[in-house]
Amino acid sequence: MSILQSRPLKHIPVEISVPGDKSISHRSVMFAGLCEGVTHIDNFLPSDDCLASLKAMIALGADVEILESAADGKGLKLCVTGHGMKLREPATPIDCGNSGTTMRLLSGILAAQPFECQLFGDDSLSKRPMKRVADPLTLMGAHIEGHGDKICAPLIIRGGELQPITYPLPVASAQVKSAVLLAGLQARGKTTVIEPAFTRDHTERLLAHFGIKTMRDALSVTIYGGQKPQARDLTVPGDISSAAFWMVAAAAVPGAQITIRNVGLNPTRTGVINVLLRMGAQIQDFVQEHEGEPAGNIVIKGGDLNATVIGGMEIPNVIDELPILAVAAALARGQTIIRDARELRVKETDRIAAVAHNLRLMGVPVDEFEDGMEITGGGPLKAAEMDSYGDHRIAMAFAIAGMFANGVTVINNTDCIATSYPGFERDLALFLNESNTPDVPVDVISRMPRKVAERLHPTQ
Ligand code: S3P
Repeated sequence: MSILQSRPLKHIPVEISVPGDKSISHRSVMFAGLCEGVTHIDNFLPSDDCLASLKAMIALGADVEILESAADGKGLKLCVTGHGMKLREPATPIDCGNSGTTMRLLSGILAAQPFECQLFGDDSLSKRPMKRVADPLTLMGAHIEGHGDKICAPLIIRGGELQPITYPLPVASAQVKSAVLLAGLQARGKTTVIEPAFTRDHTERLLAHFGIKTMRDALSVTIYGGQKPQARDLTVPGDISSAAFWMVAAAAVPGAQITIRNVGLNPTRTGVINVLLRMGAQIQDFVQEHEGEPAGNIVIKGGDLNATVIGGMEIPNVIDELPILAVAAALARGQTIIRDARELRVKETDRIAAVAHNLRLMGVPVDEFEDGMEITGGGPLKAAEMDSYGDHRIAMAFAIAGMFANGVTVINNTDCIATSYPGFERDLALFLNESNTPDVPVDVISRMPRKVAERLHPTQ
């Protein structure tokens, strides 16, 4: 079991790039596998989660070839040959690993296939609720069995002919919306999903890329069954959820500046920029790619961060960034309140409990609510030893917190980082490594907590 050590920040690199977007990588290989023909995918995220989707599509009959692996290990060039929407019955159960996206989106695809298939995952995934996809897919005519009230994995899915439905989502979840749309694509007629709040729209955008039309009307999305996806090459932009770690690191150092290159800037994912702007960072995004998934560079200038309130319709847009935003809150003056985020309790771990526990270990006062927390920031952070709870975003968020603490912060159980960010430790070293030229300006150093300032600039 790996351990990650974080130490006081020594250096802000001028620029950095992050690996491919996890949500888009999953969908790219799944949808390419449903096409008849060849799709080249560039910058596919080679993380454990996305590789689970890739292997699943191979098990279901797609041919996937890895043409190239980027020298920094952050992206793969794939050639996916799909054989149409009639998939092959897999010889063995499909392992979804730690990936909720793999299990939920595949459920939507498998709901219409004329065979029985088993989906299983690791301990964390086996505790997560699959009822949210089983309910609508069962209404459409699929047979789905799982464990207990929450219909947990392993799932047995017996697909067949599907009826279209109009389905109001009980929770704002892009994964559930996607599962219903993918089943709707294979049903006869018109399927509509009504969201309680806007969730990420990668499924709609990527389906459009492959020639499948969906119609949006305010909070509802409609798809007509019977359309056939057409193979077409694509490039996956960098993941803004991975960029968020470096955004917070730079945002919390007044005067610091970093450019993050080639990041996805889909407006259903950029809530983290809005929150950090409210907190006092200066951020500019430069959209360079407009077609399909918007992408470009983000420039962040640090400032004295202030507390904010995060809640309501904004939550789905920042759902994966809330652990690192909680760390930003610990570095900001005042009381930050996060509400309406009870979904965090059913992620890879209970992220409200994990964040609250680890922040308290670092000396930060936190009040926990069922749907969020109140964090009193601005005090010194104590270096501590803590657990990731097997959750990649908890591990990385507290590696960033450790940059602002007064010693060595030890995070146990960090193999999980491979779930979304291969190469994170190497990138972290760019910020921690004393051999890098410190290009953080001196006036910045004078405004940092004393211990950090001393390490950056011993004569200070
Ligand atoms: C994802 C949607 C979100 C997010 C997850 C990836 C996706 O989950 O937390 O990391 O790719 O659709 P929910 O849609 O269940 O909130």
